[in-house]
Amino acid sequence: MDLKVTCVLSVILVIALSTLAGAVPTKCQCKTEPKERKNCGYPGITAQQCRKAGCCFNSSVPGVPWCFSPKAKKVRKVCPADAHARINCGFPGITAKECEKKGCCFRSQPAGVPWCFYHRVVEEAC
Ligand SMILES: *[C@@H]1O[C@H](CO)[C@@H](O)[C@H](O)[C@H]1NC(C)=O
Repeated sequence: MDLKVTCVLSVILVIALSTLAGAVPTKCQCKTEPKERKNCGYPGITAQQCRKAGCCFNSSVPGVPWCFSPKAKKVRKVCPADAHARINCGFPGITAKECEKKGCCFRSQPAGVPWCFYHRVVEEAC
């Protein structure tokens, strides 16, 4: 293999590895009862290695896994209250029923903004 190919391949490998590591969990996702923790690492894993693997680390309680799986994010669909922030999901004159079928929010007021519009997904506090 020539040098160029080797170089391109190693760049691809680095990118692949960094995407595999997954997203960093939020603090909220790591608030689990110590006895409900699901082990995510191996014994003796460091905090850094643990977080790199996309897990939570907390060593304050002995006898339970220190590196554990984060909770799933709780999300909720809401219809935005700000009429001007609406993102059109329908077409002028769409009925509430047609809009609902598309899984969107329907409010027949005020004038001049879409009445059928997309939800927003918000993360729930925990
Ligand atoms: C570690 O876990 C304990 C017990 O659940 C909790 O009280 C503490 O706040 C946690 N520490 C951090 C830094 O999250």
